[in-house]
Amino acid sequence: MEVKTSLLDNMIGVGDMVLLEPLSEESFLENLKNRFDHNEIYTYIGSVVISMNPYRSLPIYTPDKVEEYRNRNFYELSPHIYALADEAYRSLRDQDKDQCILITGESGAGKTEASKLVMSYVAAVCGKGQEVNKVKEQLLQSNPVLEAFGNAKTVRNDNSSRFGKYMDIEFDFKGDPLGGVISNYLLEKSRVVKQPRGERNFHIFYQLLSGASDDTLKKLKLDRDFSKYNYLSLDSAVVNGLDDAASFRTVRNAMQIVGFMEDEMQSVLQLVAAVLKLGNIEFKPESRNNSTDESRIKDKNDLKEMCELLGIEQSVLERAFSYRTVEAKLEKVSTTLNVSQAYYARDALAKNLYSRLFSWLVTRINESIKAQTKARHKVMGVLDIYGFEIFEDNSFEQFIINYCNEKLQQIFIELTLREEQEEYIREGIEWTNIEYFNNAIICDLIENNQNGILAMLDEECLRPGTVTDETFLDKLNTICAEHQHFESRLSKNSKFLNDHSLPHNCFRIQHYAGKVLYRSEGFVDKNNDLLYRDLSQAMYKATHSLIKELFPEGNPAKVNLKRPPTAGSQFKASVGTLMRNLQTKNPNYIRCIKPNDKKAAHVFTESLVCHQVRYLGLMENVRVRRAGYAFRQPYEPCLERYKMLCKRTWPHWRGPAREGVETLMVDLPIPTDEVSYGRSKIFIRNPRTLFFLEERRRQCLQDLATLIQKIYRGWKCRTHFLLLKKSQIVVSAWYRRFAQQKKYQKIKSSTTVVQSYIRGWQARKLLRELKYQKRCKEAVTTIAAYWHGTQVRREYRKFFRANAGKKIYDFTIQRIMQKYFLGLKNNMPPMSPIDKNWPARPYRFLDGVHKELQRIFHLWRCKKYRSKFTEEKKAVYEEKLEASKLFKDKKALYPSSVSKPFKGDYLEIRKNPKYQKLNSAVEEKVLLADVVNKINRANSKGTARIFLLTKKNVVLADQKTGQVKASVPLLDLASVSVSTKNDGFFALKLKAGSASATKGDFLLSSDHLIEIITKLHRSGATAADREQINIDISDEFLVQFKHDKVCVKFIQVAPKNGNSVSCKRKNNRLLEVLVPTTA
Ligand SMILES: Nc1ncnc2c1ncn2[C@@H]1O[C@H](COP(=O)(O)OP(=O)(O)OP(=O)(O)O)[C@@H](O)[C@H]1O
Ligand SMILES: [Mg+2]
Repeated sequence: MEVKTSLLDNMIGVGDMVLLEPLSEESFLENLKNRFDHNEIYTYIGSVVISMNPYRSLPIYTPDKVEEYRNRNFYELSPHIYALADEAYRSLRDQDKDQCILITGESGAGKTEASKLVMSYVAAVCGKGQEVNKVKEQLLQSNPVLEAFGNAKTVRNDNSSRFGKYMDIEFDFKGDPLGGVISNYLLEKSRVVKQPRGERNFHIFYQLLSGASDDTLKKLKLDRDFSKYNYLSLDSAVVNGLDDAASFRTVRNAMQIVGFMEDEMQSVLQLVAAVLKLGNIEFKPESRNNSTDESRIKDKNDLKEMCELLGIEQSVLERAFSYRTVEAKLEKVSTTLNVSQAYYARDALAKNLYSRLFSWLVTRINESIKAQTKARHKVMGVLDIYGFEIFEDNSFEQFIINYCNEKLQQIFIELTLREEQEEYIREGIEWTNIEYFNNAIICDLIENNQNGILAMLDEECLRPGTVTDETFLDKLNTICAEHQHFESRLSKNSKFLNDHSLPHNCFRIQHYAGKVLYRSEGFVDKNNDLLYRDLSQAMYKATHSLIKELFPEGNPAKVNLKRPPTAGSQFKASVGTLMRNLQTKNPNYIRCIKPNDKKAAHVFTESLVCHQVRYLGLMENVRVRRAGYAFRQPYEPCLERYKMLCKRTWPHWRGPAREGVETLMVDLPIPTDEVSYGRSKIFIRNPRTLFFLEERRRQCLQDLATLIQKIYRGWKCRTHFLLLKKSQIVVSAWYRRFAQQKKYQKIKSSTTVVQSYIRGWQARKLLRELKYQKRCKEAVTTIAAYWHGTQVRREYRKFFRANAGKKIYDFTIQRIMQKYFLGLKNNMPPMSPIDKNWPARPYRFLDGVHKELQRIFHLWRCKKYRSKFTEEKKAVYEEKLEASKLFKDKKALYPSSVSKPFKGDYLEIRKNPKYQKLNSAVEEKVLLADVVNKINRANSKGTARIFLLTKKNVVLADQKTGQVKASVPLLDLASVSVSTKNDGFFALKLKAGSASATKGDFLLSSDHLIEIITKLHRSGATAADREQINIDISDEFLVQFKHDKVCVKFIQVAPKNGNSVSCKRKNNRLLEVLVPTTA
């Protein structure tokens, strides 16, 4: 279990002054002393840390301590600077509030140490990683570099910061450092040329001479002996406990880490060496004619070496130390410098050179450490500015330093005392006013734009005419004489108060931290900060790039006649900016107190501490804290921050924020006197209450985080599980389907097998049964037949014992015949004589009958057909029949004639008037009239003749005229000759000796040969008085023309030029008829 601790545990004295009882200055100092004696150097006033300088190293900054204070509440452990650093860092990281750490206290109180402790703590607790570590290292290592160049031993502090430093450390949203920006404020550059007694110059000069190698020193033309350099005071050149040589190595190493290049480091050291050399240049007067002294350089060796170091032409610099050119409008006036002016010029150059080098170093470091990202960042500012100083001899620098401290005190008052009280009043919280000293009046004395000391100094510097420090003091005397915090001999005298502690050339200011006497000498000069233009131009002419860069105003091309702003006004402006910057951030105070003036451990000088406690206003601070409230916050953010602590306000409060906060406090419960409710803010009296709230919130956040984690994990697991389940269902569905499919297929195939076996078995069984039934049936039939047979035989045996077989046979035959005839009757073929169909024969023994019946049927149907004929048609058929008898298979022409009907009168002789004459010549009935060709015996050509056949004659007549050419009685006709070929030639042969025979036989050709010959033949048959005409069918026959016999020969030839039959007379005895073969 975590052990709860508190700053009250093992407390030495009182850890928080707010808890001090009774509260008085004595008890306050007593408490501080008590704690200091017990090595408790830190004490709180609420959230302000008082830090006593122990002047010795304490074992309280170890890594273990860092871990101890890390993420702990402010009041949980004994007071420590780490607690403040942790609080600031966490508030920056977790609440997104920019922070500033304001470290105040006089010189030597431990501000610089405190700032380094804060930075190292933050570096230790913030994020880690290669990049982050590099940034951290660079930020931390910028300190040794700046301390070497900007710190010096003073009578008050061996490592006194002689410049003001404000460093913004930038963090990202996670709290990891991104980079930083350093602002520097007014370096005490007068120290470069002169140091008060017991003090020394800036550390770097001593470090360089002690720590650099011989080689480096040689290159820089330096000697290790400090005494060789005018600018280095000898009395405190060596400081106890400071190892300059080791520091030099540390500085070089730090410069390397920060990112300085080797040549840059070399340039910087060259400049440092040049300053030392510059201090060694001495002048001697040289009388001039006009009784004025002109300065001349005594020993030019140092000047030469310096010029070599910086790459400046010696003569140019030499002249710049002897002459001064004043440019006014268009005029240039050159005046000589006397020795003191030359020394002034030399020192001014040395101071400027060094201070500009310092500013360049800051810029260069900034370049290295600046944040690389442009993302929004949070800022923690650490302010370590020179502490309040009272020296024996206080000059312009102390005035400026103390002014700055006044401003810081002002901001402290503003934010802690005045603002706090005003806030209570504003918020309507009951409050009794606490008196405190407000140093605004001193700030006003210094910075007022009209009659402030700085304004008057500026006025003096800019005023034409002779301006001296005395005139400036006079001015102060007249203007500030009445001011409560200003004193001078004159102002006192005017009030008849003789104060001999006030010298004539001084003025005194009553600062918040004490009275400081300022010597007016040097105020005007230091404020003017003048560097003769000849010098800056000489510097600009240098070949050394860094020197050139440091003196841009020396560029003749950019001559600026305007005066540069004075040192005072510059400082005032930069302090103003700083104050405005600090006001935007959440302040965290470290009030450093110096326990003694001897830089000694264990020594507590009460008077010194008391003085500091007074001017730092710590008592007032405690009183305000005790009377007031430790913590305040507007209602909205307060409710937002703590609403999870109460069920009624979590997660949302619907009403006004104030009521929400009240409900929250009542619910927790917080005692009513612990909190007050202002108009817009809640005020918590005791820090412990706040820590109680914070602790509860932390626990609650842990619980909430656990809850969120739990829900998230639950959700994640559930989603994962559901996904798994879903996937499992899909997988199992597929698998089941697949398994079932396989199973089903297996069952199906098994079923099919079983089925097929069963079916096979059933089928076989059925087949067996059917076979058996068939056999039974057959057996039964056989048995029945036999039995019937037996029965019938037994029955009929007595009647047909002898003829039973024949009778049965007859009967069977009868039945068969009956069936046959009936079948034939029902299946008769068509009546057409040419139809060839006839039913198939059923039994072979009916073969003869069947054919006979077919023949009879055919005859019968022919008879039937014939019986339908008319007489004419009958005669035609008879003629056709006759033609068939005559020519079938004898003449090739015959088949083509069968289908053509015998028309007889082709010429329609009786009707046609053309043949009227012929008609009258032939009286008998014309059996045939046609046009034939009569073949001429002489040329075997044909002549068309009308061929008429009557009952008694054959008449040949002219086709055109119809005149009868020959009329041959049929009685005279012996025979007709035709060929066997496919031609229409025929010869009418006349009976020898007949009346017609004198004209000779006729050789004719006709398309209707078959009809003509048939009709000729029939006419003979029908006539009773004549014989039948012979028909000779031969391919060679003789024709008796008028005088001679000619043989007509028919020759079958291949068809040529058509199918026509041609006739050629070969000689007197032979006539060839060429008959083409028809295809
Ligand atoms: N916490 C500390 N532990 C040990 N020594 C300390 C501590 N704080 C300061 N010192 C000693 O005091 C000396 C002076 O401290 P520091 O330089 O921080 O003073 P300062 O307030 O910065 O003075 P100045 O205004 O002159 O710069 C340091 O060199 C160191 O020796
Ligand atoms: Mg310091």
